[in-house]
Amino acid sequence: MLNTLKAYVGEYKKTAIAAPIFIIFEVILEMIIPLLMSEIIDNGLGTGNINYVVKIGIIMLLVSFASLFCGAMAARQAAIASAGFAKNVRAGMYNHIQEFSFSNIDHFSTAGLVTRLTTDVTNVQMAFQMIMRMFTRAPITLITAMFMAFMINSELSAVFLVALVFLGFVIAFLMTRVGPYFRAMFDQYDALNASVQENLTGIRVVKAYVREDYETKKFKKASEALCRFAIRAEKLMVSMMPTMQFTVYACIIAISWLGAQMIVVGDMKTGQMMSLFTYTMNILISLMMIAMVAVMLSMAKSSAERICEVLNETSNLTDKDEPVMNVENGDISFEDVCFSYHGDPENLHLSHIDLNIRSGETVGILGGTGSAKSTLVQLIPRLYDVTSGSVKIAGIDVRDYDIETLRNEVSMVLQKNVLFSGTIKENLRWGDKNATDEDIVRVCRLACADEFIERFPDKYDTWIEQGGSNVSGGQKQRLCIARALLKKPKILILDDSTSAVDTHTDAMIRKAFREEIPDTTKIIIAQRVSSVQDSDKIVVLNDGKIDGIGTHEELLKTNAIYREVYESQQKHSSDDTESENTSESLEETETSVESVKGGETDER
Ligand SMILES: Nc1ncnc2c1ncn2[C@@H]1O[C@H](COP(=O)(O)OP(=O)(O)OP(=O)(O)O)[C@@H](O)[C@H]1O
Ligand SMILES: [Mg+2]
Repeated sequence: MLNTLKAYVGEYKKTAIAAPIFIIFEVILEMIIPLLMSEIIDNGLGTGNINYVVKIGIIMLLVSFASLFCGAMAARQAAIASAGFAKNVRAGMYNHIQEFSFSNIDHFSTAGLVTRLTTDVTNVQMAFQMIMRMFTRAPITLITAMFMAFMINSELSAVFLVALVFLGFVIAFLMTRVGPYFRAMFDQYDALNASVQENLTGIRVVKAYVREDYETKKFKKASEALCRFAIRAEKLMVSMMPTMQFTVYACIIAISWLGAQMIVVGDMKTGQMMSLFTYTMNILISLMMIAMVAVMLSMAKSSAERICEVLNETSNLTDKDEPVMNVENGDISFEDVCFSYHGDPENLHLSHIDLNIRSGETVGILGGTGSAKSTLVQLIPRLYDVTSGSVKIAGIDVRDYDIETLRNEVSMVLQKNVLFSGTIKENLRWGDKNATDEDIVRVCRLACADEFIERFPDKYDTWIEQGGSNVSGGQKQRLCIARALLKKPKILILDDSTSAVDTHTDAMIRKAFREEIPDTTKIIIAQRVSSVQDSDKIVVLNDGKIDGIGTHEELLKTNAIYREVYESQQKHSSDDTESENTSESLEETETSVESVKGGETDER
């Protein structure tokens, strides 16, 4: 774990080393002050030599200033090094997360990743700063002060040893007890973040379903659990302070008692006694610091482990040594493909899929909710890798391609798609950052997005809010299709991407595809038969298996599921046409595959 994190100190290594060096000087200078004090009392004031008092006084002042300067420098260097270290760790984690495959992301929750990137890194940053400052300062102070104290009076200093052993036990006991509470506390942080994130991203749904009370209760529960563990940890921690104070005062009483007797018999001078007191305080304060840092470290250890889990997660999307850099054409073949999200061959989400698609073909995919339509197409651009079998493009296994080349040639409009805050143009240029304005207008025309964009006052410079919240569902879908088209891919996959678009526009988009991008292989997942019925072939999926492949006419004759879906949608649309003869009403009430199969349409 330390080795993993050490690498992230990076360019701040020098600063990180400078901080403890300044501290060493600060402590040494600080330790000289009590000695000078005892000189003033015993040899200056004691003998009435004022000149000597002034001389030593000036030296004392200079030493104090030098010590102050070193202290300030140490604090500055430690702050720079720890902030820089945190920056590097965050950048490292963030870049690593970008390489994650979908299954890596499934492994950590999004909220978990957020906590790790924020709270956990801050904990480790604080601990690193503490280590640089306190962990050098405290042991050095302890050792120097002990050494000085023993020099002054070794018999009296034995008192410290007793205190040291006692405090050692107390710290060790607290460390072992408090550690598990901190770990539990961080897991609760994840739960809390998950609750907040889910609520805020889905705030519109929460409001639409008047679920504010439920959400508030959920948040309260997570926050109370966090509070409970924090209180447990703090309860243990509060016992630390009285124990420390008890030890400090016990030491002072013992030293005063024994020291006074020594002064009376003449074994020790008053000045020496004074400096011994100062050293006592130094020793005990450093013990206190060590205890505090120890607690902080046990907390940071849990955080560091959680950070390293992310940093050490190996992405299961690795390129071959000599990847293929060119996708020849849009031929796709699935050869005995089995897939499980959990990599478990006993619990397959897709089983034994054999499917051949020729370059330039339009293929429709139909099936009920959860029949693995999205799962099937996600294997083509390697959003997930097959569990067994192989997916080939132009006769080459997708795992042999350079991942960037592959994803540039296979453009996929995801079912849960998002737009980002920025103008329409900026959003579309995700597809191709060098696209000209003409390219953008062309793809928008293909995706039938031009008609509504032209109606916006700012046209292509219209600002899109985060998540595309200021455009309608159908408009968002058309923008996402345009973005995918801008890549000029060899394979275009639309995962239920026209579900919110009216049937007329849907047909126009398909017509544009047919005429303008005839060489691109098009895979269209849809709930409406009308969206796929003119495809070259239609694949009917059921429960992770292919139930039938054929053209619309063939499937009507041979496939029961297809026929049932078609007939029910025909029936509903004719009912509607009779009652209200508008094309918009068709799409509102058309029966989807889900409702035929008794499923529930999800919220999009
Ligand atoms: N990330 C995931 N981790 C684990 N299981 C998943 C994951 N995504 C989907 N599944 C499961 O895989 C199965 C197929 O899901 P998939 O999303 O492919 O269905 P679909 O046919 O696209 O459904 P829909 O029409 O609702 O989009 C479902 O049983 C689902 O629970
Ligand atoms: Mg799906």
